[in-house]
Order: sequence, then structure tokens, then C-alpha cells
Amino acid sequence: MKIAVAKEIDPSEPRVAASPDTVKKFKALGAEIAVEPGAGLKSGLPDSEFTAVGATVSADALKDADIIIKVKRPEASELSQYKRGALVVAIMDPYGNEAALKTIADAGVSAFAMELMPRITRAQVMDVLSSQANLAGYRAVIEGAEAFGRAFPMMMTAAGTVPAAKVFVMGVGVAGLQAIATARRLGAIVTATDVRPATKEQVESLGAKFLAVEDEEFKNAQTAGGYAKEMSKEYQAKQAALTAEHIKKQDIVITTALIPGRPAPKLVSADMVKSMKPGSVLVDLAVERGGNVEGAKPG
Ligand code: NAI
Repeated sequence: MKIAVAKEIDPSEPRVAASPDTVKKFKALGAEIAVEPGAGLKSGLPDSEFTAVGATVSADALKDADIIIKVKRPEASELSQYKRGALVVAIMDPYGNEAALKTIADAGVSAFAMELMPRITRAQVMDVLSSQANLAGYRAVIEGAEAFGRAFPMMMTAAGTVPAAKVFVMGVGVAGLQAIATARRLGAIVTATDVRPATKEQVESLGAKFLAVEDEEFKNAQTAGGYAKEMSKEYQAKQAALTAEHIKKQDIVITTALIPGRPAPKLVSADMVKSMKPGSVLVDLAVERGGNVEGAKPG
């Protein structure tokens, strides 16, 4: 069996679907591994690291491959190199992208979506959602801090005191929790909101303050699987009113709110953005699913 490791064509994608360690495991299973030249370069993995563990590096790595592993869903231009009957395993981002999935089906290629891996114990090592969300939550704070003109912790200098930064995290899943923890470690005053009641205690356990409209609907906003439901128009309006007052006083707002299979809920309106102080920063992690902030654009 031939397994190919594809080079990502999206210039903003630095990841690669295999490492020398995983290549070793595939080899141990008896597979032949072919890697496209430069596939690992942006991840700090030169071709030589793949050849050292027995992979071949060649421009026609994808040709005749039975399985192709990728980070992002293949585009039409890539599919032309896949043989009919091949399997491709990647982050497919399937919801709302039916046309792209049809292109894959039309090419006679079977697609496996890594994000649909069940969240069961046995599958934890194949998790591509929380592992990345965790890092993204951390990085959102680091990027926010870089864009923000002041320090995070309260700074007492001989010449005067600079107050601590106020950080507001909207959406407290895996990414949001990591953002809270990171902002707290840097010394910010952190508040957070979510529609799932279970998050209140999680937020407080990280030393942040929880802020939400805690009505009857809120008490039932979690599905049996532990995910958020889409909230009613009435709830959204109450939530928006609460947010509007709070957001004016924040220095950094990090949004991470998602509902599985739905567009991201709009939580920050253009008016709320306008109400923020000059020099404030918004980081929208939900931007690829439409964004939580009105007017946010990917990239
Ligand atoms: P997610 O990425 O789907 O959504 C992020 C957060 O946005 C969620 O906390 C959600 O409640 C919140 N949200 C949705 N609509 C909102 C609104 N209108 N206002 C404010 N917040 C809103 O969530 P993620 O990170 O996947 O976590 C969801 C659940 O899945 C949690 O219970 C988590 O513990 C569980 N989980 C389990 C994993 C595993 O078994 N490996 C991995 C990751 C999460």
C-alpha cells in the first residue's frame, strides 16, 4: 500500500499531515510512504528528515497513492493528481461546503473528515479539534497582546501605575478556556461568557469572572453531547444587551463561540466594536465559520 503525504497548497497553512515519527509507524505497518518535496518545510521538517526514516521524497508522490494524508481538504487542482478509488484523510470542514465535497466524490475519491472522529477515549489520540483549539486559544492571547499597546499585568513603576488589561473571552470551549488561562497567567483581569451553564464553574476555577444571562433557556442550553445549541432570538437579544455594556470597558476581546454544524453566532455587532476604546483589540477565532464579530474577515 502506498501512503502519500501531500504538501499543503494553502499558503497560510504551515502544518504537514505527517512527521518522521508517524512515518515510522506507517512503515512498521508495511506501507510505502511517499512525501511531496518541501511538504514539512514550514513545520521545520526538511525532506531529509523524512528520507532518514525510509520515506521517498518525490514530485509525483501522489501518483498511484492508495491513501493521501493532508491537513486541509483537497481542492480540484489537487484532486486531478489522485487516482480514482484513493482515500484522502484530512480536516474536511464539511458543513456548508457541499460543492467542495461533491468535487471529491466526482473524482472518485473517498474522503475521511478528521473532525468527525468520535470523541471517545480510543479516538483521543486522533483528535484534531481540541488539540488545535487548545493551541489556538493560547495563540489568540499572544497575538492580542502583541497588537495591544499596553502591558497585561498591573505595572507599578516609580513614575506611576499602569492598570492591568481587561480581557473578555466569549465562548468557553477548549479554546476559550485556554485563552482565559493564558490571559490570567499574563496578569490580565479576565471575564468570560458562554451559553453552556457547565462553563460557569470552569471559568471561575481559572480565576476569571463569569458573565451571562442565566435564565431558564440558559439552564438547558447544552446538548446531551456537551455542545452548545443555537439560542432563541430573545435570548440573543438579552445576551447582546449585557455584552454591549461590558464590552465598552474591555481592552481585549477574544471570541471563540461555535455551534457544531452551524454558522458561528454573531456576538459582537459593529456598534459594539465602535463603542470600544481606541487601541482595544478584538481577536475572532470563529472567523473561518463566519465570525463572531460583525465585519471580521479571515486573514
Ligand atoms: P466549540 O468549539 O464547538 O464552541 C466553543 C464554545 O462556544 C462552546 O463552549 C460553546 O458553548 C460556545 N458558544 C456557542 N454559542 C455561543 C453563544 N451564543 N454565546 C457564547 N458562547 C457560545 O466547543 P468545544 O471547544 O469543542 O467544546 C464543546 C464541548 O465539547 C465541551 O463540553 C468540551 O468539554 C467537549 N469537548 C470534548 C473533547 C473530547 O472528548 N476530546 C474535545 C473538545 C471538547
